[in-house]
Amino acid sequence: MKLENSVALVTGANGGLGKAYVEALLAVGAERIYAAARKPESLSRIVALDPERVVPIQLDITDARSIQNVVASYQDVTLLINNAGVALNYGGFITHPDLESARAEMEVNYFGTLMMVQAFAPVLKQNGGGAIANVLSILAQATAPVIGTYSASKAAALALTKGIRAELAAQGTFVVAVMPGTIDTEMSKDYAGHKVSPMEVAQATLQAIVNEIEDVYPGEQATATAAQLLSDPKAVERQMAVLLPNP
Ligand SMILES: NC(=O)c1ccc[n+]([C@@H]2O[C@H](COP(=O)([O-])OP(=O)(O)OC[C@H]3O[C@@H](n4cnc5c(N)ncnc54)[C@H](OP(=O)(O)O)[C@@H]3O)[C@@H](O)[C@H]2O)c1
Repeated sequence: MKLENSVALVTGANGGLGKAYVEALLAVGAERIYAAARKPESLSRIVALDPERVVPIQLDITDARSIQNVVASYQDVTLLINNAGVALNYGGFITHPDLESARAEMEVNYFGTLMMVQAFAPVLKQNGGGAIANVLSILAQATAPVIGTYSASKAAALALTKGIRAELAAQGTFVVAVMPGTIDTEMSKDYAGHKVSPMEVAQATLQAIVNEIEDVYPGEQATATAAQLLSDPKAVERQMAVLLPNP
């Protein structure tokens, strides 16, 4: 898909990666970018990037009515970037048995993404097919026990991504799974290791859409893990197991 003159909708546009998506879309010549956030007032610095092309919109992806309002108002979308996500439980399934956080991660990362694709699939169809990019994580394929419930929610979203890829192929909608390692944003502020820049992730996503690459692993950490998952998946599981939460 060509991105020049595309009409994109980016969820979680006020976050670290969301802002990079808006900047990257502006750079490749998107005609309009609907920058979605739960609190539109948090979008002022994003809109200031290009007030003509960046349109702030209110959207909570866990709220069906909020999604319906958005889909009714913005029927010209050709590219949906499901970027909104949460990581709420920094602990293991057993060590930190916080069901409320685990459910909330599923509500946003899985059910929110599911409701968004259900709502926008007909819009993309009527506009010629377009594309969907779902921002997952390399942890969708390799559970990190230290952030286990988040890994599970991203694994569910990966299953969703593969399913809709098959379902939407006939209408010409291209579906990309974005699986980065740790990104340098608010979400990972307490992680001391190597982080990929949000712009690298955003640009890799847009390249994947243009070049029709279904699964993209931005950054060294994700690329190396993806390669090892193919050659020795049990080795990845053992490495992740070392990162156990403190009891
Ligand atoms: N940071 C990492 O290391 C990393 C690694 C791999 C994948 N990812 C994924 O990358 C995506 C972007 O995260 P980030 O790193 O940019 O973190 P971030 O700065 O915390 O941004 C997360 C965004 O999601 C939004 N959001 C949360 N719940 C929402 C809801 N119910 N409805 C609409 N928006 C909602 C947040 O909005 P509010 O401001 O309203 O909360 C925020 O804009 C997420 O899907 C995340 O899982 C992150």
